[in-house]
Amino acid sequence: MMSEADILQLLMRRTPGYSLAQPFYTDPDLFQTDVMKVFGTQWLFAAPAQEIPKPGNYVTLQIGPYSVIVVRGADRKIRAFHNSCRHRGSRICAASKGSAPKLVCPYHQWTYELDGRLLFARDMGAGFDLTAHGLKPVHVAEAAGLVFICLADQAPDFAPLQREAVRYIGPHDLGNAKIAHQSTILEKANWKLVLENNRECYHCSGSHPSLCRTFPDNPDLVGSSLGEAATEGAAHIARCEAAGLPSAYVLDPSETWRFVRIPFLGDAVSYTMDGKAAVATGIGHVPVQDAGTCLFFSYPNTWCHFLHDQALVFRVLPVSPQETQVTTTWLVHGEAEEGRDYDLNRLTEVWLHTNDEDRQIVEENQVGINSPAYVPGPYSQRQESGVIQFIDWYARTLERKLLGRIQVAAE
Ligand code: FES
Repeated sequence: MMSEADILQLLMRRTPGYSLAQPFYTDPDLFQTDVMKVFGTQWLFAAPAQEIPKPGNYVTLQIGPYSVIVVRGADRKIRAFHNSCRHRGSRICAASKGSAPKLVCPYHQWTYELDGRLLFARDMGAGFDLTAHGLKPVHVAEAAGLVFICLADQAPDFAPLQREAVRYIGPHDLGNAKIAHQSTILEKANWKLVLENNRECYHCSGSHPSLCRTFPDNPDLVGSSLGEAATEGAAHIARCEAAGLPSAYVLDPSETWRFVRIPFLGDAVSYTMDGKAAVATGIGHVPVQDAGTCLFFSYPNTWCHFLHDQALVFRVLPVSPQETQVTTTWLVHGEAEEGRDYDLNRLTEVWLHTNDEDRQIVEENQVGINSPAYVPGPYSQRQESGVIQFIDWYARTLERKLLGRIQVAAE
């Protein structure tokens, strides 16, 4: 059994630039601490707003023990609530997504308005106060068509991310996009291994033959900053910015999120096997077809790619110490028609392959870490600067939360 003080000690003993000690990837108490102190305190990507375009459309998310409903109201506003009935706590919506005119608890049919107000509760007596039993709200905010939630009582300031998202993602006009495809997979690995793997392309040439047809594995382009030698990246940014497309590398001072636009290889313009566009109609108003991909991450649970012809958004949710759910959503122009403007297989094949390859990689990583022989190993400063940045962010975030808690307990 690991206490918070044990976890803090382990964090403080870690060697920066090295992978974490085994318990960070395996221990149930440490996993629970990650859920409560990291996922429970940060803004989490929930869904593209276009996944719930109409009143009554909802998605649900399971974040450790928390179940959350994100629903569009009759006033078209998106709200989020704890998915727990105010009668005796039953989960209200069991499906991962759906549509309902009201939120009705399946147990005794307490009925909630889409804005969370309790409308109806049978035989609760004359003095029963409906207004005191509405659904418990969860913070929700939208950034250029991406819906985020925060489980904390007090959410961190969302405005800086929102501002930059409007600049970088705005031209891709996700509000007028549609979901072309969605895939959800379970990866048998700790959530940090999934993030670590995403934050480097050291592994790409050996593992991603489809992706490497178009995506550059140059660490100067995909690392923790735009490397000094990234003349190719700088030229691409200058060209896109001259065309009116925000593209320069921007990292939030807290290092929680980042945007940058990088070029594809050669003449490629999209994630397809031949590098040509997957969709005939571009998404949004991106002024140049060869805009490459706008890379966005927001810790702890999303990375995204915004292209001329599509947007790819990823959501990572921790399920257990060694299980992580990864949902990938492909968005295209709202009026693009399958069969006429795009072929679904051509649109999705590169990232379906890549996701499956990444699943195998992180699962093997987990099996190796589970061995008693595992000891933390050194990251490559050149190739894995993004992993170092992520792990430093994680350690800093967790350390702050644990220190705050231990100090409060001591007072
Ligand atoms: Fe929901 Fe009883 S628990 S109506």
